[in-house]
Amino acid sequence: YEPPAFDSNCMTLTRYVLAEQKKVPSATGDLTQLLTSIQTAVKAVSSAVRRAGLTHLYGMDGSTNVQGEDVKKLDVLSNELFINMLASSFTVHMLVSEENETVIEIETEKRGKYVVCFDPLDGSSNIDCLVSIGSIFGIFKKTNESNETNVSNAFQTGRNMVAAGYALYGSATMMVLSLGQGRGVNGFMLDPSIGEFLLTESNIKIPSKGNIYSINEGYSHLWDKSVTEYVRRKKDPECGKPYGARYVGSMVADVHRTLKYGGIFMYPATKVSPNGKLRLLYEGNPMAFIIEEAGGLASNGKIPILDIQPTALHQRSPIFLGSKDDVNEFLKIHQS
Ligand code: AHG
Ligand code: MN
Ligand code: MN
Ligand code: MN
Repeated sequence: YEPPAFDSNCMTLTRYVLAEQKKVPSATGDLTQLLTSIQTAVKAVSSAVRRAGLTHLYGMDGSTNVQGEDVKKLDVLSNELFINMLASSFTVHMLVSEENETVIEIETEKRGKYVVCFDPLDGSSNIDCLVSIGSIFGIFKKTNESNETNVSNAFQTGRNMVAAGYALYGSATMMVLSLGQGRGVNGFMLDPSIGEFLLTESNIKIPSKGNIYSINEGYSHLWDKSVTEYVRRKKDPECGKPYGARYVGSMVADVHRTLKYGGIFMYPATKVSPNGKLRLLYEGNPMAFIIEEAGGLASNGKIPILDIQPTALHQRSPIFLGSKDDVNEFLKIHQS
């Protein structure tokens, strides 16, 4: 079969979201409008990332963020793009960003019903060496009737998300999205020549078991004994064929590989960081939503990530996610 040189009926992300909207009689089109604005932000970030070396956008911005991290110039630009594109979609009640200490309020007349928690640029340490980076987002409906900005809307459990996804700025730019409720996970690749995301991977399902483990072994001296034991078994021929080790250091890249190939991604608590490093609202929750919709598991070691009751915008959580069999094997050791 010779695919057409140009598919005149290509399934764009916008068409996909519109079609899903039309299946819901009560839908207002606001989610479609919000996802269109997210697409615009992602396209702009993708362009900035790929041109950063030519436009002096590498390196530090000179400030530090609420995380205590040195902020990169692209962190700032990506954050501004997300804030401006989403705030002007007239669908957002308020925003939560990794780069903003407090919630981002929206001008009253522009407020809508959605709350978006996002990581505008994930894997910032990999920008200057051209290793894949990404953006991550999770979407909630606000719970309070009034139009007053209410921070409590950000403290819903991940189970309440209406949609979540990420963009991977890798060898290609891809958006991976799930609208939840068993509608699965779909991958849309950016075709820069038309500026549209085209459906290239329908209903992505994570293998029930993989042969890759992904963790930063530089911290092994700080791990608890269950993590040490699990990783030891992955390398021990006595326990079966040893697993491959892969660790990019950009959560989006490590999670996308895990989604596609199977296996396990772990960012555990360490003696130094008792809740690990990854942030629940805009890294753990959206990725857990995607992985569960694809048939995998995402746990903090005790309960599913999506069941954690948030109490702070930037709280961290240990995370163990990936293929069901692999995560369960770890949890059995961790909980014994
Ligand atoms: P961010 O760049 O948004 O701050 O996130 C970086 C995170 C995540 O992308 C990755 O999984 C993790 O940092 C890597 O941390 P280590 O370098 O400690 O392994
Ligand atoms: Mn950061
Ligand atoms: Mn991140
Ligand atoms: Mn980030």
